[in-house]
Amino acid sequence: MEQITLLKDISRDVLAGLCSTPKHLSSKYLYDNRGSKIFKEIMHMPEYYLTDCELEIFQSYKQDIYLDFVSSTGKFELVELGAGDGLKTKILLTHFLNQNARFTYTPIDISEAALRNLTTDINNKLPDISVNGLVGDYFQLIEEINNCGRTKKILLFLGSNIGNFNKTETLIFLNKLKDVMHTNDLLFIGFDLKKDPQLILNAYNDAQGLTADFNLNLLTRINNELSANFDLQSFKHHEVYNPQSGSTKSYLISQKDQEVKIQKLNKTFHFKKWESIFMERSQKYDLNTIQSLAEQSGFEIIKNYYDKQQYFANSLWKIMS
Ligand code: AVJ
Repeated sequence: MEQITLLKDISRDVLAGLCSTPKHLSSKYLYDNRGSKIFKEIMHMPEYYLTDCELEIFQSYKQDIYLDFVSSTGKFELVELGAGDGLKTKILLTHFLNQNARFTYTPIDISEAALRNLTTDINNKLPDISVNGLVGDYFQLIEEINNCGRTKKILLFLGSNIGNFNKTETLIFLNKLKDVMHTNDLLFIGFDLKKDPQLILNAYNDAQGLTADFNLNLLTRINNELSANFDLQSFKHHEVYNPQSGSTKSYLISQKDQEVKIQKLNKTFHFKKWESIFMERSQKYDLNTIQSLAEQSGFEIIKNYYDKQQYFANSLWKIMS
């Protein structure tokens, strides 16, 4: 496994986020070792429909997806941004292997542990696949992708990971991808769709409290890595969904007036009673929005794949001709 850059910019980002009004923390820091483990559990909980929907799409359409991927060239390189444990991707990898496809797999993830587990798992279960993982922030690794030789590339950005970006960040990101892609390359993106608002809220407000743990774990991470004294008991997780904009946001709410000292930042932060920290965005989309995101960033939609309930879409894009 190749380690490119795991810039320790958590200090800078935590400082900026907690000095802002309103306060925020970046969701990319949720994925330390413990956070990646909690997220794995989130993917398996009954309320978190996203994983099942994408699994269903891959199970039902793996042959169609395979034919889309091999069209024109045959040989291809799968580059997965934010691969995590690769649970869903393995369905495609297994199918491609059974079809004797000629391909390589390049998973990228911010969690070194997650990537190491994924690589080991594929080496064990699918030893015929050549895997070359990259650790880092995928924003920073995009350039790297561009320099990886001239085999046709298929970029996978699954699980509605794109939903973590706001509108501006989304367009910047998609435009960057387009700039590093070549004419025959493809982009396959997962979008979580608008649906009954209660179902969406339940997915991010589970009965077990795993989503709360996932968010609170970032405070633990700051306690450990930046020598802080966040009292986890005094913060509570709160989820909001706006059915018009489709934005789903999670917050940690300070239940009392309190000070938190972060020693490595040499700073004390004040939290008013009921003050919030914005933790994560999980945007929900409709088809018009997906269409216009593609257009605005110079892509054409080749095809959309849906699960039976139309909760989720995997959209296959090529560069606009
Ligand atoms: C990995 C970004 C797709 O937003 O649904 C799950 C992360 N956060 N539960 C999402 C998450 C809380 C997830 N993504």
